[in-house]
Amino acid sequence: MPLLHYPAGVRVRVPAKVNLHLGVGGVRPDGYHELNTVFQAVDLVDEVIAYPARHLEISISGPHADEVPADSRNLAWRAASLLAERAQVAPHVRLEIAKAIPVAGGMAGGSADAAATLVACAELWQTSSSRPELAQLAAELGSDVAFCLLGGTALGTGRGEILAPVLSTGTFWWVLALADYGLSTPAVYAEFDRLNQSSSKGIPQDAAGSPDALFDALRAGDTRGLAQTLNNDLQPAAVSLAPALRRTLAAGGELGALAGIVSGSGPTCAFLTSSQRSATRLAAALTAEDVCRSTRVASGPASGARIVR
Ligand code: C5P
Repeated sequence: MPLLHYPAGVRVRVPAKVNLHLGVGGVRPDGYHELNTVFQAVDLVDEVIAYPARHLEISISGPHADEVPADSRNLAWRAASLLAERAQVAPHVRLEIAKAIPVAGGMAGGSADAAATLVACAELWQTSSSRPELAQLAAELGSDVAFCLLGGTALGTGRGEILAPVLSTGTFWWVLALADYGLSTPAVYAEFDRLNQSSSKGIPQDAAGSPDALFDALRAGDTRGLAQTLNNDLQPAAVSLAPALRRTLAAGGELGALAGIVSGSGPTCAFLTSSQRSATRLAAALTAEDVCRSTRVASGPASGARIVR
């Protein structure tokens, strides 16, 4: 009886992500946009604990937890169901999700919980799934789930789910400025389409590749070099839907960030700093300026979804 192995549950920690480069191309036949992106996992983490249960249930805690559905609309629920179906076991688990990653914040919070759920349920149910098998399920669930499973730094192509690890040395220090509202990812992509259709150039079919300078900076652990290459094609769309982000980004620059960028589809802003000390100082200054709900200091790259004992 595998369930008896874990009466106290299986606890999994999973990181948020920032996109160091997010090149967005045209819409594919399946409705997704072609991406060329470089992800970095940061140590702002959610925890998912999977307990033995008689059916599938989810509870969520943390800021804005009440805005997260605790049913089949939750990607973690779908992750548990998909794994159970493929492993031919009953989808019986109680998932407790402790959220620190902002909800609808552009940091892959929902995808992170799905990745953690795959790892936790595979262990709880003793499915003997290999990491590549879990990665395959992750890719089916969503564009960012596979990266949350992998962690570290990686190049993502396709709709973001085809991953290749990227060599990165050292530690990069970020200040994350969290907003008191969320942005819907589909709405930001729709705004991206609208902005590009109304511009004379139209949407390029291929997403712009990451510049070599970005890979050089990561390989060398060169924070200043990395600051010069950060790019997010979704930023104009996020700012168009949430113009207050302009003030947040400007404040970060004025207060000493090496660079600032909207994280993914936003509205979280990610500011790169030269050290942990600079990050702590910037976080306090941004909070005092009242340009965001709250700030978090985080470092990257961080590990992907993993069991904590
Ligand atoms: O795959 P995921 O569920 O994270 O994507 C959320 C939404 O973001 C999609 O339904 C789609 O509207 C948009 N998206 C996109 N192209 C991508 C990734 C996401 O258009 N490559």
